[in-house]
Amino acid sequence: MEHRGFTIWFTGLSGAGKSTIADILVEKLRARDIKVELLDGDVVRTNLSKGLGFSKEDRDINIRRIAFVCHLLTRNNVCAIGAAISPYRSIRDEARAMIGNFVEVFVSTPLEECEKRDVKGLYAKARAGELKQFTGIDDPYEEPLNPEVVCFTTEETPEQSADKIMGKLDELGYLAPLS
Ligand code: ADX
Repeated sequence: MEHRGFTIWFTGLSGAGKSTIADILVEKLRARDIKVELLDGDVVRTNLSKGLGFSKEDRDINIRRIAFVCHLLTRNNVCAIGAAISPYRSIRDEARAMIGNFVEVFVSTPLEECEKRDVKGLYAKARAGELKQFTGIDDPYEEPLNPEVVCFTTEETPEQSADKIMGKLDELGYLAPLS
């Protein structure tokens, strides 16, 4: 189906649930015959951004690369999904300005909850001082001020969060065919 391009931009702490919700969203969009490409932070860092670290400079480069690819996809009528921590508000706003059709999704999971889940064991390492500049521990995370969607993962299942995003996309007219 031919449809308008747009970017769904996930932001949130490590372990907040960005990838989990994004994966479900991809399935839901494909089921609606929407062309989708997912740029997941962890995956991007193994290829497009291989070699980059976690200083502010490197994170900014990483996010600008993801945003640039989302921009290219969006202008070709594809749905691009970015799912990286993207801790800095100004760089996210820069991405929004470049891309235009931009739906920011804040995956709002309290730090304590992310730490409790500690899926990758990285919070424990950060607390032990083995990992420096870890987002939320000794590195900043700036919450979005006006995200289009907020997912409260301690109150919603990933499925419900994905449905909420689908509802917003519908409301914004992104799921309709181009005539
Ligand atoms: S971002 O800040 O540049 O947007 P990105 O989403 O690509 O980050 O990568 C975050 C992932 O890298 C985390 O989920 C975690 O698995 C891993 N990681 C390793 N070191 C750090 C760190 N210092 N801060 C945050 N995440 C880290």
